[in-house]
Amino acid sequence: MGFKNFKDLRIMTSGRFHAFLLLLFCVLQRSEQTCPSVCLCISDTVSCSAAGLNRLPRSLPSFPTNLDLSHNHLTWLGPKSFYVMPRLEKLWMAHNEIRNLSHNVFSNVSSLRVLDLSSNKLQIVERHHFQGLWRLEELRLFNNKISQVEAGTFIGLSSLKKVYLSFNHITDFPFFSIQDHTHPFLAMLDLSSNRMSSLLWEDVKALPRLVQQGLYIHNNSLICNCSMYSVFWHWNLRNYDSIRDFADEHFCNVNGDPRTSLQFLHNNRFFKNCTVEKPVMQPVVDLLSDVVIYEGDRAHLDCLTSLTSKDLSFSWLYPRSGINDTLISMFPNGTLEIQAAMVNDSGIYLCTAVDVKQGLNATREVNVTVLLPAAVPFNTGYTTLLCCSVTLVLIFAYLFLTPCQCGFCKNPPAAYSQGTLSCIFSCFRRQQPNGGTLRHVAFTEQLMGEERAGQIPQSSQ
Ligand SMILES: *[C@@H]1O[C@H](CO)[C@@H](O)[C@H](O)[C@H]1NC(C)=O
Ligand SMILES: *[C@@H]1O[C@H](CO)[C@@H](O)[C@H](O)[C@H]1NC(C)=O
Ligand SMILES: *[C@@H]1O[C@H](CO)[C@@H](O)[C@H](O)[C@H]1NC(C)=O
Ligand SMILES: *[C@@H]1O[C@H](CO)[C@@H](O)[C@H](O)[C@H]1NC(C)=O
Ligand SMILES: *[C@@H]1O[C@H](CO)[C@@H](O)[C@H](O)[C@H]1NC(C)=O
Ligand SMILES: *[C@@H]1O[C@H](CO)[C@@H](O)[C@H](O)[C@H]1NC(C)=O
Ligand SMILES: *[C@@H]1O[C@H](CO)[C@@H](O)[C@H](O)[C@H]1NC(C)=O
Ligand SMILES: *[C@@H]1O[C@H](CO)[C@@H](O)[C@H](O)[C@H]1NC(C)=O
Ligand SMILES: *[C@@H]1O[C@H](CO)[C@@H](O)[C@H](O)[C@H]1NC(C)=O
Ligand SMILES: *[C@@H]1O[C@H](CO)[C@@H](O)[C@H](O)[C@H]1NC(C)=O
Repeated sequence: MGFKNFKDLRIMTSGRFHAFLLLLFCVLQRSEQTCPSVCLCISDTVSCSAAGLNRLPRSLPSFPTNLDLSHNHLTWLGPKSFYVMPRLEKLWMAHNEIRNLSHNVFSNVSSLRVLDLSSNKLQIVERHHFQGLWRLEELRLFNNKISQVEAGTFIGLSSLKKVYLSFNHITDFPFFSIQDHTHPFLAMLDLSSNRMSSLLWEDVKALPRLVQQGLYIHNNSLICNCSMYSVFWHWNLRNYDSIRDFADEHFCNVNGDPRTSLQFLHNNRFFKNCTVEKPVMQPVVDLLSDVVIYEGDRAHLDCLTSLTSKDLSFSWLYPRSGINDTLISMFPNGTLEIQAAMVNDSGIYLCTAVDVKQGLNATREVNVTVLLPAAVPFNTGYTTLLCCSVTLVLIFAYLFLTPCQCGFCKNPPAAYSQGTLSCIFSCFRRQQPNGGTLRHVAFTEQLMGEERAGQIPQSSQ
């Protein structure tokens, strides 16, 4: 991306030097192609940002892969607007006044990967708008006036990864048109802050797992009902970012009345009559975590899973049988303590947390590597000092200590129970794991876009 260069350029530029550089770049770039007078052309980027444009510059060069038309007054894009730019990959048009796109706007630009039409005045996303953009990965349409997204809009856009449609007036979305085999990479669909009240929840549930995980629909005007609650209940259970990061912004209206708005992720008493069907009886496997320690060290292996209930029972599966379990115990919160790890204790430890009430299991794997402390650096002076101290202690011990009266060090507390398998321990947790810190995926990315646009300097006059 050439934006940093733009910034550098701005610092260097002043008056005539500016003009000279511009000329130099344009001449060096493509001798036969001219840079529109209101734009900056550098490397493979053309920026016509905030140039007061009402329509596209008449003669756009064909070389750029990056075209920035943001912060102008464009209202409409005609057919084959970018026909002469077959290499275009990123097209920035945020903060214009575009109301509609004609047919075939993007013909001959099938190399487009990022299209930013955010903060415009689009009203309907029509099925013809983006046809042919089969390489398109990111589509930004947030902060428009979109009330409808036509079914079929995303047909053929098989490379889509992220679609941003927040802050519009959308009441309905064609979820059925998105499927695993048609959109295998779609991992972000932001429909938050729209006007959706009732969705076809069966269609939402049928969405590919990746899409559900990246679907943001908070701050709409959803009507409270059991079908709706069941969807969010499952997402909450799986600890999806969309729920965790925006828990306070999930509202629904009782009987559709906006005056009785309910924060339903916190206030779930209303839904106690709903039968939430149990999720597929497949344990959720949480990511493997790594623990590297030295022999003799104490290790704590936590059993934090996506289950958040207060009544969980835990069990650990050791990497091999025959581990000396007098040195291992488990806290009520499922954390396993290895008091003095041996090299032999290395391996995968598997914790299963079971929520008996809900009939749910989740597992956590910890890859423990115990290293020999061979690499501990000792210099000779230090070693000598240590030897002297040890000798002194031994002498004092010999002189003054009577043999140990082993009254208080009987049996270790029975905090464990030995099993025949290498599966041990089971008890109940009474603490809840700490919730993670808030991460605002959807908005972080949007803000990045805004910032990026803000960074680009005014073009030359
Ligand atoms: C359209 O794109 C092709 C390559 O994909 C290119 O050869 C052709 O010149 C382009 N058309 C125009 C009018 O630039
Ligand atoms: C947008 O433009 C297309 C093609 O010109 C036209 O068919 C459609 O009716 C327009 N839509 C709106 C909402 O004006
Ligand atoms: C919620 O959506 C409305 C528009 O529907 C918007 O005005 C408001 O700023 C949004 N609230 C938040 C917290 O994003
Ligand atoms: C909930 O509302 C949806 C429409 O959004 C409807 O299709 C469904 O039947 C309702 N479910 C229940 C349990 O009322
Ligand atoms: C739940 O069911 C009970 C008994 O059937 C009923 O009295 C109550 O109003 C119901 N609550 C809701 C929120 O529907
Ligand atoms: C959950 O764990 C319990 C006890 O370990 C086991 O009996 C049950 O089969 C497990 N269920 C699933 C779905 O793995
Ligand atoms: C386990 O460790 C304890 C303490 O180090 C030791 O006394 C005991 O003999 C060990 N048991 C086995 C089976 O190795
Ligand atoms: C579990 O409890 C132990 C002892 O109270 C504590 O040291 C540890 O940090 C706790 N683990 C988690 C994940 O809360
Ligand atoms: C590892 O375990 C095996 C058998 O359990 C034992 O023979 C061997 O000495 C152990 N090695 C270490 C370093 O503890
Ligand atoms: C566990 O960690 C060790 C050492 O870091 C590594 O070699 C091994 O591949 C890891 N095992 C798994 C299953 O990730």
